[in-house]
Amino acid sequence: MELQGRVLSVASECVPLVKTGGLADVAGALPAALAPLGWDMRVLMPAYRSLRPRIADWPEVWREEGLWGGTGIVRQGVVDGVTVLALDAPHLFDREGGPYGGPHGDWWDNPQRFAALSWVAARIAREGLADWKPDVLHAHDWQAGLAPAYLAFGGAGGVGTVITIHNIAFQGWAHSTLLGELRLPRSEFHPGALEYYGGLSMLKAGLVTADRVTTVSPHYAEELMRPEFGMGLQGVIAARAAEGAVSGILNGVDTAVWSPEAGPHPFSARSMKGKAEARAALCDEFGLGVPGPLAILVSRLTDQKGIDILPAAVPDFIAGGGGLLVLGSGDPALEAAMQALVTRFPGRVAVRIGYDEALSRRMFAGGDAVLVPSRFEPCGLTQMYGLRFGTLPVVSAVGGLSDTVIDASPAALAAGVATGVVFHPVDALGLGQALRRLLALHADRAVWTALQKNAMRQPLGWETSAAAYAALYAGLRG
Ligand code: ADP
Ligand code: GLC
Repeated sequence: MELQGRVLSVASECVPLVKTGGLADVAGALPAALAPLGWDMRVLMPAYRSLRPRIADWPEVWREEGLWGGTGIVRQGVVDGVTVLALDAPHLFDREGGPYGGPHGDWWDNPQRFAALSWVAARIAREGLADWKPDVLHAHDWQAGLAPAYLAFGGAGGVGTVITIHNIAFQGWAHSTLLGELRLPRSEFHPGALEYYGGLSMLKAGLVTADRVTTVSPHYAEELMRPEFGMGLQGVIAARAAEGAVSGILNGVDTAVWSPEAGPHPFSARSMKGKAEARAALCDEFGLGVPGPLAILVSRLTDQKGIDILPAAVPDFIAGGGGLLVLGSGDPALEAAMQALVTRFPGRVAVRIGYDEALSRRMFAGGDAVLVPSRFEPCGLTQMYGLRFGTLPVVSAVGGLSDTVIDASPAALAAGVATGVVFHPVDALGLGQALRRLLALHADRAVWTALQKNAMRQPLGWETSAAAYAALYAGLRG
C-alpha cells in the first residue's frame, strides 16, 4: 500500500508497555490496524520507571532542554511492531508508582508532567524528526490535550490535529495560576477557549483547539452532549458537533490475541467442547461449583463500572443457580464488598483482587456470561472479549455497550440476531432483572447455543474503525 501519510499518536499509556485501562489497548492496536491502509503511525509516550531499562539503548531522536525543570530525551524503538517514541524525562516520570500517582494519590505535578508530553509532541509535529515529519497529530485524552493547543497557539506547521475522548470523567484540571507555567497564552483564558469553571482543563484545551474531536463509540458521542454524561463539557462538545467536528468511532479488539482458538482449551462456534473444559478448569482453580451460568467480571472496581449495585442484585442470581467470579482492583470499599460476597456465598462466588491478564483470558474462555453494569462506558472492551468467547455480555444500555451488544428481546430472538442481555436503568433492580433473564436464557439449551453462535460470529476486529480513522486523517492532511 502506498504511503498515505504519517501520524504522531500521543498517549499516556500503550500496550504492551504500560496499561491501566482500555486506552492502552487502543493506543497499542491502532498502528498495526492503520499500516495496511498506508498510514504510518508512531506513538509518543512517557518513559515511566518500568520502561527506562527497556529503552536505555534506543537511539535518541529528539532532545528538549528546559522541560519543566530538566531535559527530556526522546528515544525511538520498536516494540511488538509498534514504533514507540519514549519521552525520557526522569525528573517527571521516573517515580515509584503508577503513571498518574503514587501511594498518596495523584502526583501533584500532573499538569506539568503531561504538559511536557504535549509540548514535546507539538514540537515534533511542527518540526519533524530528522527522517520523519507527521501530517497529523492524534492526541488521546486529557494527558495529550495540550498538544493540539500548543499547535493552535504556536503555529501548526501544516499539521492536522485530532483528539479522542476515551473517558470524559478525567479532565486534567489545573489551577488558573498555572496558565503561564503551562506556557499557555493569557489571551486565551476565556470561556470560549481555555477557561473552565475558573480553572483550566487540559482536556477542554484539546477539545476547543483540535481540528477534529472523536470518541470511542457513536452512542457515547451522542451521550456526551447531555449533562448527565458530558460532565461539564457537554456544551463544548455540542458546539464542536454543530461545526461537524465530532464523531464516534467504535474501538476494535485484537482478534488474534482475544481468540477462543488460542488458549489451552481451544474452541470455536462450531465445536464448543474446549469451552466446557475451560469452564471446568476455571471452577477447579477457584473451588467453584456452579450448576447454572457462571458470570465473570473483569474490571477496574470504580463507581463508573456500577460495581456497587452487584451485592444487592447477585443473591437472587445465586439462588437461581448462578455463580460469580470477579477479577479487579480499585476502590477499597468496592474490593471489600466483593470479598463480602465470597464469605456470604462460598463455593459460588470467588474474587481475585489484582491485575492479571492471563487469568482474565482463562475467565473469558471459561465463563458463561460477562457482567458490565457500567453507569457510563465510552466503549468498553470486556463485553467485546465476551462476544468473541461466547461468554454472553450482560450490559447496561450506555455508550459503546449498547453499540456492541444486541439484547435478547423477543424481536431479536425471533430475528436470530441477539447476542446478550442489555438493561436499563443502572440500578440493582435493573441488573437483578437482567440476571433473571440470563438464568432463563441459559436454561434453554437451544436458545443459549444460538446466542453464543451469534456472539462469536460478530465482527469485532479493527478493520472498520481503522478505515474510519484513515478517512479522518486523509481529510486533515495538508
Ligand atoms: P476502562 O478502560 O474504562 O478500564 P475497558 O473495558 O475499555 O475499560 O478496558 C479495560 C481493559 O483492562 C480490558 O482490556 C480489561 O480486560 C482490562 N482489565 C481491567 N481490569 C483488569 C484486571 N484486574 N486484570 C486484567 N485485566 C484487566
Ligand atoms: C476508557 C473507557 C472505556 C474505553 C477505553 C478505550 O478507559 O472507560 O470505555 O473502552 O477508554 O477507548
